Amino acid sequence: MSSFKVIACGRQLFLPHARGRALSSSGHTILMGRLKGSLSAFSRLQSNMSAWVIDEYGNNGVLRFTEEATAPSISSGDDVLIRVHAASLNPIDIAMRAGYGSILLKLRRDLMSLGQNASEFPIILGRDVSGVVVDCGSGVTHFTPGDEVWAAVPPWKQGSLAELVSLSEYEVSHKPSSLSHTEAASVPYVASTALSALVNAGGLGRDNCADKRVLIIGASGGVGTFSIQLLKAWGAHVTVTCSHNAEGLVRGVGADDVVDYTAGDVAAELGRLEKFDVVLDNVGGGSEHWAPDLLKAWSGAKYVTLVTPLLANTDSMGLLEGGVRSGLALSQVAVKNMCNGVFYRWGFYAPDGPVLDDVSRLVDTGKILPVVEATFPFAQVPLAFQKLEGGHARGKTVISVNQEAQEGMAGTEGVEENTSEAGGDGAKELN
Ligand SMILES: NC(=O)c1ccc[n+]([C@@H]2O[C@H](COP(=O)([O-])OP(=O)(O)OC[C@H]3O[C@@H](n4cnc5c(N)ncnc54)[C@H](OP(=O)(O)O)[C@@H]3O)[C@@H](O)[C@H]2O)c1
Repeated sequence: MSSFKVIACGRQLFLPHARGRALSSSGHTILMGRLKGSLSAFSRLQSNMSAWVIDEYGNNGVLRFTEEATAPSISSGDDVLIRVHAASLNPIDIAMRAGYGSILLKLRRDLMSLGQNASEFPIILGRDVSGVVVDCGSGVTHFTPGDEVWAAVPPWKQGSLAELVSLSEYEVSHKPSSLSHTEAASVPYVASTALSALVNAGGLGRDNCADKRVLIIGASGGVGTFSIQLLKAWGAHVTVTCSHNAEGLVRGVGADDVVDYTAGDVAAELGRLEKFDVVLDNVGGGSEHWAPDLLKAWSGAKYVTLVTPLLANTDSMGLLEGGVRSGLALSQVAVKNMCNGVFYRWGFYAPDGPVLDDVSRLVDTGKILPVVEATFPFAQVPLAFQKLEGGHARGKTVISVNQEAQEGMAGTEGVEENTSEAGGDGAKELN
């Protein structure tokens, strides 16, 4: 298998070829207003903000930049208002842009607003934030204005492709001090998802991994590169599948065994290896038929897939029928697998600030590195969506929202190319 060059620079892994690609196109000339970057300039009375919104579901064309999005405010005692410095994209942003999960998510939004909103639009996408607290509700005890924080924004809340985002205290965590905002924004959503899947569904944790063999199917993207590092920090043996040109990346973040799924029959290749305690499936589809056979039978082993039909079913069949059909499908497959001595489970993202506190410690002690493939300026959000939609992710795609504050620059008129984090002294080849 050929190797792939990965460079570790400071505390971040990046892929030089992808950075060049990401920055070469600049089809969007948006004269952004000066982002209101300083904490002192913040006022509870700020009613409008810059944001990328969608007013309908569709392709990239529905993304619209505005300086007049409604700014969130403190509306309950546990609210934390964050000025966004960086955000990142996840596959769910592409899916939500096209309407994925709209029925279930609208129900959740309506419950939050007690049914006051007739329409869910305009929606702000973006599920990761790294930024600075600008205001807190009266009951907030862990954060004060000026704190640097990171968080995963639940899909039913307005997202982070905006100047400001409002979250509950429970969803927020102090950002690792060793990371820049751009680096930090690459972590929360994939970390919350991976931890929820591996801990809640997979039964793994820092104290029981030493003798565990874990297989990650689809390890070269956001969830995979984070999961490898987490499992290695916990002492597990980690086998992964990925394309041949991602081998350097996944080995660079700690994978023990790597199987190239493009080289032939991946199920047969994996079947020649010792059996696994847990399989985390980031790809789904056909793999859910053969991957449970790779588990140690009658030993509590678990197959956990992140690719579930729940939201797609409620979109196409409605809440009731979609929910019931999904439940039936899950229980049928779970029973079938139980008869073969293994557990079959669905994994989901779950908002959890305290979990991010643990991740923050792992980052600050050097056990987990952010893996940023490409960084886009805020003005080029549509290009970032285009990049992610092209597939073949190698880590995360990040958006620098408040470049002025991050770089200590005097102004932010117009579009700027993102040149942060690239190269520099001390870069080290891992493979
Ligand atoms: N249930 C939930 O709450 C939840 C939450 C987060 C994410 N997810 C889902 O989890 C999946 C992974 O998320 P992510 O953020 O890691 O996505 P991502 O960053 O887009 O990464 C996906 C990776 O899988 C690789 N890949 C594609 N086909 C493959 C195959 N057959 N075998 C092995 N690798 C393959 C891709 O590279 P190549 O194509 O170059 O091989 C890419 O590196 C997505 O489907 C996402 O929607 C679910």
